[in-house]
Amino acid sequence: MESLQCIMTRRSVRNFEKREVPENVIEDIVKAAQFAPSWKNSQIVRYNVVCNKNVLDDIADNGLLGFSHNRDIIKGCSALVVLSVVNGICGYEKDGSYTTSKKDKWEMFDAGIAAQTFCLAAHEKGVGSVILGIFDEYKIADIISLSKNQEIACLIAIGYPAGELKAPNRKDTSDILNFIK
Ligand SMILES: Cc1cc2nc3c(=O)[nH]c(=O)nc-3n(C[C@H](O)[C@H](O)[C@H](O)COP(=O)(O)O)c2cc1C
Repeated sequence: MESLQCIMTRRSVRNFEKREVPENVIEDIVKAAQFAPSWKNSQIVRYNVVCNKNVLDDIADNGLLGFSHNRDIIKGCSALVVLSVVNGICGYEKDGSYTTSKKDKWEMFDAGIAAQTFCLAAHEKGVGSVILGIFDEYKIADIISLSKNQEIACLIAIGYPAGELKAPNRKDTSDILNFIK
């Protein structure tokens, strides 16, 4: 797939077929996502993939702040990527001080780039995905026994798409593009 076509045809997929995405396909997607840029090539993003139905149900029932929209997505997905970052590296100098006024916000910046790279690589392989931002990060960290030096950035539900999707409207480019001359 051409890269522009991949970028423009990727959609947030919330309804999935019943069949599972094989582990080797998920591994290939992560291998591609590893080529996302990162702060000083620090590569702080981790992909914790939940395939076990009981763990998925636990997250869906107890880890979403009661947001039933996301609950339904997770109940129907093949796997859930709990995308985490290792704290204390990205945005920091070696002596532990912040490098810039954005402090540790660069951790979430790297996570965002990695998440989109993951979703594009998944799309290339015919796997649908949706980034989920509404969840209880502490509850889910507990459910998956996440290392104490990591923080959850987002969830990505994946599976083979059930049906076609239309792109939600985008703003006019002139509303968001500003050439400084
Ligand atoms: C940071 C972030 C958080 C999001 N959280 C949710 C969510 O909790 N539930 C959901 O259904 N979609 C979520 N989305 C998906 C957006 O709704 C979606 O990207 C947007 O409507 C544009 O649609 P498209 O991805 O198909 O182009 C999230 C997307 C991003 C980038």
